[in-house]
Amino acid sequence: MGVFIVLEGIDGAGKSTQAKMLAEWFEERGHEVVLTKEPTDTAFGKLIRRLVLTGGRVGIIDGAKISHEAEALLFAADRAEHIHKLIRPALEEGKVVISDRYFYSSLAYQWARGLDLEWLIDLNRFAIRPDIAILLDIPAKESMRRIKGRAIKTEFDRIFELQRSVRNNYLKLAEMFPEIRIVNAQNSVEDIHRDIIGLIEQEIFKRA
Ligand SMILES: Nc1ncnc2c1ncn2[C@@H]1O[C@H](COP(=O)(O)OP(=O)(O)O)[C@@H](O)[C@H]1O
Ligand SMILES: [Mg+2]
Repeated sequence: MGVFIVLEGIDGAGKSTQAKMLAEWFEERGHEVVLTKEPTDTAFGKLIRRLVLTGGRVGIIDGAKISHEAEALLFAADRAEHIHKLIRPALEEGKVVISDRYFYSSLAYQWARGLDLEWLIDLNRFAIRPDIAILLDIPAKESMRRIKGRAIKTEFDRIFELQRSVRNNYLKLAEMFPEIRIVNAQNSVEDIHRDIIGLIEQEIFKRA
C-alpha cells in the first residue's frame, strides 16, 4: 500500500504551494507521486465549479443556486469517483497520493453552511481515511490578505466571515479526527514545508 496524504485549510492557507513542494520532496526520494485535488477535474468536479463555486473565486458564497444538501451530495459524488478511479488504484500500486483538499473540506464548509455535522460525517463514511491530514491553520484575516485578488470586492465581508467560521470548524474537526495534524501556516513557505516533512517522517515513516 502507498501513502495517502491530505492538505486542508481555508483559501489562501498555502495548500497548493505546499502540495507541490511535498510532491517534489517525495519524487526526489524516488517515490511515484500522484498530486490531486478536490473538487476534481472530472464531470462531477466541473458540475460543482459551475453550480457552487463561481469561477476561480474564493469561498463557497454562491451556493444559494442549489440547496445545501444537494451541494453536499455533489461533493460526496465527486469524492466517490475520485477514490474509486484515482486514489485507491494509486495506493494499491504503492504510490504516494497527495490530495489538495478531501472530505474534511466538506465537513468544514458544509457545516459552516448550517448542515448537520453527523449527517455530513455519515455521508462521507465511504471515504478512506488518509495516513495524515495536514491542517494548514491561518487566521482568516491573514489568508484574505494573501488572496485579495481572488475575492470579489463586493463579497469581501461575506467571504471573510465564511473563512472565519470554516477555520474554526477545521480546528474543531482536528479534535475529533486523530489523523488531522495542525501546522501553523503563518510561517514562511520554507518553514511550513519543513514542519510538514517533520510530521510525515514522524507519523508515517517512523511508525512503519
Ligand atoms: N507561507 C506563505 N507566506 C506567504 N505567502 C504565501 C505562503 N504560502 C503561500 N503563499 C501565497 O499565498 C497565496 C495562496 O497560496 P496557495 O498555495 O494558493 O493557497 P491555497 O491553495 O490554500 O488557497 C499564493 O499567492 C501564495 O504564493
Ligand atoms: Mg489552492
